[in-house]
Amino acid sequence: MSEAGGAGWSVESHSVAETLALGRLLGRAARAGDVLALVGELGTGKTHLAKGIAEGLDAAAAHEVASPTFVLCREYLDGRIPFYHFDAYRLRGSADLEAIGSAEILTGDGLSAVEWADRTPEALPPDHLEVRLEVTGEHSRRSHLRPTDPRPRGCWRP
Ligand SMILES: Nc1ncnc2c1ncn2[C@@H]1O[C@H](COP(=O)(O)OP(=O)(O)OP(=O)(O)O)[C@@H](O)[C@H]1O
Ligand SMILES: [Mg+2]
Repeated sequence: MSEAGGAGWSVESHSVAETLALGRLLGRAARAGDVLALVGELGTGKTHLAKGIAEGLDAAAAHEVASPTFVLCREYLDGRIPFYHFDAYRLRGSADLEAIGSAEILTGDGLSAVEWADRTPEALPPDHLEVRLEVTGEHSRRSHLRPTDPRPRGCWRP
């Protein structure tokens, strides 16, 4: 992991297993009300990160976590805290996410992860952790983690 000049951290993953491991770390550290904005092009690993997050919360095994592209949100309620996995890929904008009651969920009792969160910026609480993924090789991905608030209240307080 490397520090990006106070603006966050960058983590290099060399395999699916390493991306799952990063997700597990985030899941273990999460507190109720935390929001992860997962941003990145198609196939960068957002869903695999979410699978690791679910495992870190003891909410589900990775193979039980499916992309919520068509249902918009999947809930996993059996872990340490609830896990809400959103996918905004098919949404036109923030209002579509808000229409399914996201405001209450995102500020509620669990950890929320929103794939394609850059499509619904106004629906996110101002204080969240942005995780921007990029492809750096066939099996490698770089995750840029950046708390949006300089003094975040969540688990990612530096
Ligand atoms: N280091 C890595 N981390 C995560 N996925 C990887 C890695 N290397 C290769 N992959 C592959 O990249 C793909 C990532 O798929 P995944 O569904 O997680 O991406 P996504 O960002 O959720 O895509 P979408 O935009 O369609 O929702 C998988 O096919 C996976 O096997
Ligand atoms: Mg996905």
